[in-house]
Amino acid sequence: MENRDAELKEKILSLKKRRNAVILAHNYQLGEVQDIADFVGDSLELSQNAAKTDAEVIVFCGVHFMAETTSILCPDKTVLLPDMNAGCPMADMVTAERLRDRKRELPGVTVVCYINSSAEVKAESDVCCTSANAVEVIESLDAREVLFVPDQYLGHYISTKTDKKMILWPGFCPTHLRIQPEYLTRLRQEYPQAKVVVHPECKTEVIALADEALSTGGICRYARREDVNTMIVGTEIGMIYRLRKENPGKKFIPVSEQAICPRMKLITLEKILWSLEEMAPEVKVPEDIRLKAKAAVDKMLEIGRIPT
Ligand code: 13P
Ligand code: SF4
Repeated sequence: MENRDAELKEKILSLKKRRNAVILAHNYQLGEVQDIADFVGDSLELSQNAAKTDAEVIVFCGVHFMAETTSILCPDKTVLLPDMNAGCPMADMVTAERLRDRKRELPGVTVVCYINSSAEVKAESDVCCTSANAVEVIESLDAREVLFVPDQYLGHYISTKTDKKMILWPGFCPTHLRIQPEYLTRLRQEYPQAKVVVHPECKTEVIALADEALSTGGICRYARREDVNTMIVGTEIGMIYRLRKENPGKKFIPVSEQAICPRMKLITLEKILWSLEEMAPEVKVPEDIRLKAKAAVDKMLEIGRIPT
């Protein structure tokens, strides 16, 4: 097994060089995928990284909306998603057509879309945000009222940090909903000294029990703090791999081992190699949609670079 992995890694690295490719991976990717990546990060860090790379090919190890965002920002590069089935069920909970219908019911409303949305939905939105900059983005808007799509839990969390009126879409992340408040209460009793950090896609009752609600990049930065020795982590389980790797000697306890995003785990070393060999599957956003979606993403990047 180890030999096979070493051989695969070697083939990927040499082909990556030949293709002038870069491998970007989200924090929820399998450990072996994170290990081979040139950069591992959260949605905001990944889009900022994609926007500035010189590589001709970007192998995106994450889910479809992330590869699409890369294609929106880098139309001249080939963006590969090693498994086209790696979609985000939450992103699929809003379509451009349903969003247009809702906008007709709320004439003139400012639409903020979570980056976990399709290019078509971004094209229908005024500005995009990630969990790392959502509050900054929304606070920067002139509008008093905001329609936020698709994550109702992130939207509700933002509403506790701003005076703006937030109209929420009923979307949710099935993986983060597996994290139950009673698991957290039990762990808090077991580890009274531990810091508790969760992702803002978690249920409102879970966020209420945590010390902080942060993006996956924010969770990594929090873990490096000197006052953190034991950390209870409420997010997708892949996050634990990076936290342990970067912070040997510290203890990381997942709130739920069941918080697995099955679509994230579709990306494997074998598929990365095939995708570099075949230069497929490619994610490419049609130009008319791309230009509209890019306006929403660019606006976010201008406002919300501040890591939280
Ligand atoms: P981050 O932007 O915090 O990495 O979150 C992305 C995501 O899909 C969380 O489920
Ligand atoms: Fe989508 Fe949830 Fe998976 Fe993140 S963890 S990619 S929001 S399904």
